[in-house]
Amino acid sequence: MKMSRDYSIMWITDEQRKVLKRGEKMYKKHSQKKKEEITKKLIRFIKMTQMPREYLDILISWSIISPFKLYFIKKFGLFPVLILEGERNGGKSTTANFWTTDFYGHYKEHCSGMTASSWRRFEDMITASTFPRMIDDFENVDKRTVNLIKESCTSKSDWSRKTSGKDQLYKPKVTPLCITSQDLGDNFSDTANLSRAIILDFKESIKRDPEWMKLRDELKKEKLFSLLYDYTKDWKDKDLDELVKKANETIDIDKIIKRVEENSRGMLNVDKHYPRIREIYQILTTGAYLFREAFGIKLSLKNVFETLVSSRRNVTEEFLTQFLAFCNMAKDYDVDYNRKKFLSIELEWDIKKDIFYFTQANLRDYKDFANTKIKLKPLYDKLIEALTDKTLIKYANPRIEGRRQQWLMVIKDKLIIGS
Ligand SMILES: Nc1ncnc2c1ncn2[C@@H]1O[C@H](COP(=O)(O)OP(=O)(O)OP(=O)(O)O)[C@@H](O)[C@H]1O
Ligand SMILES: [Mg+2]
Repeated sequence: MKMSRDYSIMWITDEQRKVLKRGEKMYKKHSQKKKEEITKKLIRFIKMTQMPREYLDILISWSIISPFKLYFIKKFGLFPVLILEGERNGGKSTTANFWTTDFYGHYKEHCSGMTASSWRRFEDMITASTFPRMIDDFENVDKRTVNLIKESCTSKSDWSRKTSGKDQLYKPKVTPLCITSQDLGDNFSDTANLSRAIILDFKESIKRDPEWMKLRDELKKEKLFSLLYDYTKDWKDKDLDELVKKANETIDIDKIIKRVEENSRGMLNVDKHYPRIREIYQILTTGAYLFREAFGIKLSLKNVFETLVSSRRNVTEEFLTQFLAFCNMAKDYDVDYNRKKFLSIELEWDIKKDIFYFTQANLRDYKDFANTKIKLKPLYDKLIEALTDKTLIKYANPRIEGRRQQWLMVIKDKLIIGS
């Protein structure tokens, strides 16, 4: 990496000096032969990694393109947070650590979920640079941390804080975030957060593989970022425009979306029900293309679009199950007057049509039942996310006796959960 120290004007702050130092640590000039050797090793490493192939493709593509986060925020208004959730011992931390942290080699360590539990500390962390940062074991975090993550996916939010005296502290939130968690809880289940995230659900635990670990340790030392740097070092926005364009030529996104919609027998309208998923897919495609150009390794991205769709649905599926349980319980109690009263306000339902009329007034009971405070429209949004057949519930805002009423109609017996 050629960085002249003569420009003392440019390297004036400590922060800038730190960036330069990091950059020097991250880079090594490799010979062509060495590069080919690295590529071969990486191919073997990727093949050996125990993880659903589409998850790994997503992880690699996301990580490679993530230093260009701000470009995508300008272009699409979004750069998603990547979340690996699920099964203990699923290989989440180790593999994500390799691609987001070891690959760039600028930070020695990923950040623990503990840091994220304090939102102020967390805020400092996500203003450091546009190289990705991984948060391991994300749980019990402050709501403000979740909001910071959400915000940082759609803007750099150059908000400043006043320090003592006249000084202002500018903290643009520019760092791309990758999160691992055994249980996300309710943190990313609302629609606004979901549409900013890629959530990979790990269901299998992995077998110890010493050969894989050995290869990982060897690759860690190779300063892999250098190959990306060699390829993109003098890039400007127009080079990224070109990259996005070329990457898009390798796929036919409309065809993929059409296929997914046809498989749902016309019940799914991708752009309407899953806003931003198209942009997320384009970002990943661009990452895969860049990986191919810089490392000579082709990722197929097979099933990646389907994974993006189904992971959105999985998260909300639990929510739907719970909601239905509430409706059924309300119905049961309604016909059996001898039991202790379950509802403070009756939930209306039409026996013949098997339709529930859920209103604003029923929310209070639902809150007690599910321990979630939610308004009717967001409730509808969450349910619709989870449904395969989007026509099974309706949201209405009619005027009755001069007053606006909010209704949620749920057609119960046909409700299909998941796919
Ligand atoms: N892809 C892989 N192939 C082979 N071995 C792996 C792979 N990924 C991780 N390992 C090894 O498996 C073990 C468990 O992996 P890891 O800790 O990453 O799982 P995890 O999903 O983060 O688990 P937890 O939810 O408990 O944090 C580690 O010892 C790791 O070195
Ligand atoms: Mg872990």
